[in-house]
Amino acid sequence: MSSRLPRGEEKRRAVRRLFDTISPRYDLVNRVMTFGMDVGWRRAAVASLRLPGRSLVADLACGTGDLCRELERRGYRAVGFDFSHGMLVNARTEAPLVEADVLQLPLTDAALDGVTCGFALRNVVSLGGLFRELGRVVRPGGRIALLDASEPENPALRAGHGLYFNRIVPVIGGTLSNKTAYSYLPKSMAYLPSAGEMLSMLTGAGFPGTERRQLSGGLTQLFVGTRA
Ligand SMILES: C[S@@+](CC[C@H](N)C(=O)[O-])C[C@H]1O[C@@H](n2cnc3c(N)ncnc32)[C@H](O)[C@@H]1O
Repeated sequence: MSSRLPRGEEKRRAVRRLFDTISPRYDLVNRVMTFGMDVGWRRAAVASLRLPGRSLVADLACGTGDLCRELERRGYRAVGFDFSHGMLVNARTEAPLVEADVLQLPLTDAALDGVTCGFALRNVVSLGGLFRELGRVVRPGGRIALLDASEPENPALRAGHGLYFNRIVPVIGGTLSNKTAYSYLPKSMAYLPSAGEMLSMLTGAGFPGTERRQLSGGLTQLFVGTRA
């Protein structure tokens, strides 16, 4: 992945290659890099769905299946979608997994009761396209819980976070896995629109009243909404 942030088809290919490369040690680096907090963030996302037991929930960009496992633990029927073969091969979940692009899901309209998505919003080529796809596949009354990294609002926390994310994370990632990939991670934050923009995009896609929650002092953001 070059230092310039790729767009369009170039980004799609680069993201897929990157996750194929880091897939064998993805879970280990996540746990170390977040001091295990990522487990709690995924739990919070699944808890926020509040759907009846056995509801069908797709985890989009499921990676190695952490959210699928949490969905099944909470009594949902989970199915994961991801376009990185490496991530799917390294997944640890009983849920069925489908190798597919989440911008073109092999699902009929309103097929799902809910959707989760963890730390992939900044990785898709078109966030508007992803949100439109959510509007298509989630049934009216269905729920979404979307997680991604964010920057804390508190100035001191923000400065510490910037230092950690930009300087320390590439070193941890480089030591345990792949330096280029984990140098891209902080840079990829630039793809994410502001919270306000994302909320208005979600409203336009059929999820009015979506709420944004900040987790762990704003290190992570969680969008929780209902399909109108
Ligand atoms: C940071 S990982 C997150 C994995 C998992 N959701 C988690 O919580 O650990 C991002 C994932 O998004 C996937 N991804 C990115 N764009 C995608 C797309 N258009 N279609 C399918 N998967 C995609 C990548 O392959 C990768 O597995």
